[in-house]
Amino acid sequence: MKRFSVLTLFILLTGSASAAQPFDPATFLAEKCSRCHDEQVYTRPDHRMQNRQQLEAQVRRCDANVGTRLFDEDLAALVDYLDRQYYHFGQ
Ligand code: HEC
Repeated sequence: MKRFSVLTLFILLTGSASAAQPFDPATFLAEKCSRCHDEQVYTRPDHRMQNRQQLEAQVRRCDANVGTRLFDEDLAALVDYLDRQYYHFGQ
């Protein structure tokens, strides 16, 4: 019985920790990044990003503003996703 409850606790803790979920850029964008602008800001003809470095810097700024505090690897995945979907700068 003790064994069982310790195991249950372990599953509850790890199951609810968001770090255990794989990061999904599309879901993240829809849930956290669409309050001020939708995807049209990425595709408008006069969009401001000119290269991948600018894009990464902007995503950092917005992440900081919004307070979502992405891990570096998740931020990189998000930049990657935005580039593949919208900007097409390549690495
Ligand atoms: C608090 C409001 C707000 C939220 C929430 C927000 N942004 Fe932004 N974002 C802005 C503003 C303001 C601009 C500049 C728009 C402009 O230049 O007209 C911008 C511009 C951008 C651009 C550049 C668009 C271009 O011109 O090419 C990117 C990329 C971007 N945001 C990504 C994100 C990401 C990723 C998130 C989620 C972490 C996010 N934003 C959430 C306010 C926000």
